[in-house]
Amino acid sequence: MKFIHLSDLHILARNDVSRLPDAAATLRKVIDEVNTYHNDAEICIITGDITHRGTPEQYENAVDILSDLAIPYLIIPGNHDIREAFCDAFPTTETDTHGFVNFGQTFNGVRFVMMDSVVPGHHHGTLCAQRLDWLRDELTAHRDTPTFLFMHHPPMAMGLPFMDTIRLGAEDALGEIVSSNQQIKHLFFGHLHRPATGSWLGVPFVLANSTQSGEPLDFRHEKEEELQDPNPLGPGYGIAFADAKGGLRYHFNFVKFDMQL
Ligand SMILES: [Fe+2]
Repeated sequence: MKFIHLSDLHILARNDVSRLPDAAATLRKVIDEVNTYHNDAEICIITGDITHRGTPEQYENAVDILSDLAIPYLIIPGNHDIREAFCDAFPTTETDTHGFVNFGQTFNGVRFVMMDSVVPGHHHGTLCAQRLDWLRDELTAHRDTPTFLFMHHPPMAMGLPFMDTIRLGAEDALGEIVSSNQQIKHLFFGHLHRPATGSWLGVPFVLANSTQSGEPLDFRHEKEEELQDPNPLGPGYGIAFADAKGGLRYHFNFVKFDMQL
């Protein structure tokens, strides 16, 4: 089963090019590639930061650009989104009984669990008691189904001081759930804007590219304004294959884009 992974779109309002590279142009380029080379994928998973500031105008533009995708998509919010405006923009996206964007769907025998890690008004994330309970219930209901877990914020420190300060809280509570549910075969996050992999508590994870641009790969500075990167990273996305036992092959791909535009 083939799927596409997009993350950190950071779309602005139509014709707003106040941040470069132009996130609408890079996303269009990614979508063109997906439509040309990967329209056989079953689903596109989008792990948050759909817009840059969560305004209705930004969502309107994002919805419009995403309507060009030739394959269906599942979407969750990130720290740059505003949940209410997000839900208004994507009304068919499921929410749980508390209004969090938490839902699961099964593809070729693998359960894709999508979670809302947003803390309104903050850049770090969390899974509050209600969301942790939802996840426990979801996993209990599908105990024998290999599961992929998707959310915007990674719980683990990656050695990047700035990003590490705004990762997911609730690290211990999520860790306990991951450790006690052996059906969780892979974890997927956005937020870092960098292709990275590793394992956490014995479970492998992927951190996705941003469809706009990479965050600086700066292992020294904690303040965002001090970050340096001698090798700025352009826009990209992931192409993934899942087998029915929850095994994963994942390709980080980059699109050619003139970063001066
Ligand atoms: Fe982001």
